[in-house]
This record gives sequence, C-alpha cells and structure tokens, in this order.
Amino acid sequence: MTRRIVSGMRPTGGLHLGHLCGVLHNWRALQENGDTCFFFIADWHALTTDYAAPQNLAHQSREMTAAWLAAGINPEQAVIFRQSQVPEHAELFVLLSMICPLPWLTHLPTYKEQKENMQRNLDTHGFLGYPLLQSADIVIYGADTVPVGEDQLPHIEFAREVARRFNRFYGGGEEFVKKRAGVGKKISDEDNLFLQKQKNDYAEKGDKDILQSARQHVESFNLNESDKQILLNDLNYGGAEILREPQPLLTPTPRLPGTDGRKMSKSYNNAIELFDSPKTVSQKLAGMQTDPARVRRTDKGDPTRCPVWRLHEVFSDAPTQTWVEAGCRSADIGCVECKKEIGKNINAVLMPIAERREKITDAQVDDILADGARCAQDEAAQTLTAVREAMKINEVATATTKLSHAQAAN
Ligand code: TRP
Ligand code: SF4
Repeated sequence: MTRRIVSGMRPTGGLHLGHLCGVLHNWRALQENGDTCFFFIADWHALTTDYAAPQNLAHQSREMTAAWLAAGINPEQAVIFRQSQVPEHAELFVLLSMICPLPWLTHLPTYKEQKENMQRNLDTHGFLGYPLLQSADIVIYGADTVPVGEDQLPHIEFAREVARRFNRFYGGGEEFVKKRAGVGKKISDEDNLFLQKQKNDYAEKGDKDILQSARQHVESFNLNESDKQILLNDLNYGGAEILREPQPLLTPTPRLPGTDGRKMSKSYNNAIELFDSPKTVSQKLAGMQTDPARVRRTDKGDPTRCPVWRLHEVFSDAPTQTWVEAGCRSADIGCVECKKEIGKNINAVLMPIAERREKITDAQVDDILADGARCAQDEAAQTLTAVREAMKINEVATATTKLSHAQAAN
C-alpha cells in the first residue's frame, strides 16, 4: 500500500551534513519507494519565530528548494512547494482554530522550552498557534505518515488529537447516519446492542482498550471492508473520519557530531555545510575535536571517544573504517591523516551536490515551486471542500451573486 507523506522544513539558513544524512536521505528513500510525497518549505512557520526579520525569507526559500533539488529531491516523484503559495493551509488553520482548546497548545512541551530558549518575544498568537498550523499542513493532504525528528513527536500526537476532535464534532452528518443505519440492518440485534454499549462506554471513559476490543469484534463480522469501516468510525468518532489521523515516522538518523563534538547544528556554529568548498571542509575538519587522550602523534587512541570516527562510520567504506580503527588504536596513523581521509570522503558526497546546485537557476526553482503549489492546491482543495461542508460554510454562492447584481446595477 502506498502511503501519503507530508513533511516540511523551515527555510532558515543553510543546510548541513546532518540535514543531508537525516532528513534529505530519508525523503529520497520515501519518494523512491513510490509513496505519495508532499515536501514543503515552511515559510509561514519561519515567521512564527523570525517575524521581526523577514528580509531573507524569499531568498532562503529559493535557496532551500535548490538545495533539496541538488540533493536529489525530485519534482517528478514528490510534490515540492512553498507553504505560503498554498493559502488553503491558512483557511484550514482558521477553521481548526475554532475547535482547538488553548491548553492543548500551552501544554505542548515545545512551547515553554522554545519560549524560554529563544532570545526574542514569542508571546505572539502565531507562535502559540504554530503546532496547529502544522496540524493543518498535515491533515490537509490526508497524510497517514509524517517523517519527523524526535523533537516533533508531540506535534504529531497533537495533530492526531485535533483530527479526532474534528471528526467527533463534524463526522456525524446526515449522510453518515444513513449509512450507519444501513450497516446496522446487516448485523444481528445482539451485535447492534453490543456496539451501542461499547460506543457509549468509549465516549464516557475514552479508554482505548474498549475501542480495541470492539474493533476485534467488528473484524469477525461477515461484512465488506467499507461497512466495517463505517462501524469502526461510528465507534471512534460517532461519525465519519473526515480528517485522517497521521502517524509519525521516526526514521533512524545518525546523530552527526559537529566539529566541537556536540550535535551538529547551525546554532552551535560547528556544522559542515552542504555547500562548503572542499577547502573549507578540510579546514573545519582540521580543527575538529579528536580523542582527547591522543595528545601526541605517538599516543594510542580510541575511536569510540572521537567524533571524527563517527563521521567515518557514516561516510567511509569498510576497509577505510578498519584502517582507522586499527591505525588509531596502534598509533600507526595520525589524526591528520585520518582527517584527510574523512575529508576526501565527505567531499566526494558534497561535490556532486554542489555541481548540481550550480546548474539550477532561480527561474527553474520558481517553476518547480509554482507547479508544486498547483498540484498541492488540487489536493488541499478536496479536503477543504469536505471541511467547509462539515462546518456549514460552503454556501457562498448567493453572496457572490448578490455582489455581482449590485455591481451590474451600478
Ligand atoms: N515544525 C516543523 C519544524 O520546525 C516543520 C513543519 C511544519 C513540519 N509543518 C510540518 C514538519 C508538517 C512535518 C509536517 O521542524
Ligand atoms: Fe580520531 Fe582518527 Fe585521531 Fe583516532 S586517528 S583520534 S579516530 S581523528
């Protein structure tokens, strides 16, 4: 079964090796797997924290897109777009904000943490609400799978809760009630009573075990899959599943060390960047932390205590790794040699990416983003139609007509 996948990245400054080996390689695997992928530049998300300095937003959005393309994210295989070019995200965000309880937002662990850690005023509506915008980003494409880092897990759980709440409020429309009644006629009175009791129990206690046991029961019915789904949706939401509940996809990513041995991060100023020249890479590596026990060239080392070794684990082949391990422990090789080798291997990965980047023009990027936005909009529009219908705000035709009458009369 192919999955529907959504993920976004803020266009904040340069990408580094950590992004390449983590996010971008994962995205590539997903697009090549034939999953339906939506990858977007989260420029509105960037504004939630960087609202005071938007000067570079457009430039950085382009640059990040170009970097994705150079790193192999493929517009033939994935929908690549910029969030602000699909205003449907904003409409869904507004509509979801009607049902989103404030404590759900204020209690998110990321909220307090970031507010305390970032040196700027984040007492804004936009910052508080950004996880809800993220929920909209995800459910608008009916995504079932969201590849994210561990720090984002609470946001995915939050998106699930928002979708559930929406479905509980609005899933039980007339059409669903009719369908549910139809399926009810296909099962015994006894089973109907049982399901009714489970539904009430679940609504009262919210205990997922109740749902699980009811699910097993429904599976045993002699019904087709879509009938079973109607029974399950009724138990779960008391209605249809209008918004799909997404699942996080935690892909194992190597935690790349930066030049100081801490996690590679732009804010630590310890990163090897995607478009660093071979010379810069070598210079950064030359200054990189090694096993502190190897003070002199003749001191024996232990690769497990050395961040350079962790780069070898990701970028070097097996013979090279054996050479480093043995040579470091016996002091047959020096750190300078060892770093030269890793530099060569990292540059071999980065150079083709830099070469591809050179050939990508701004116009090409803009075209790809425009195409992506159109495609994303088509998909988003379908969800929005269902959402507007559910919230009874789809009847705009008369208002438009009145306006055009008024204009005609003038
Ligand atoms: N909030 C994410 C981050 O800061 C980026 C993001 C925005 C995102 N919308 C998303 C990620 C939707 C996954 C899905 O990293
Ligand atoms: Fe690290 Fe390589 Fe030096 Fe060993 S030889 S301490 S692995 S840089």
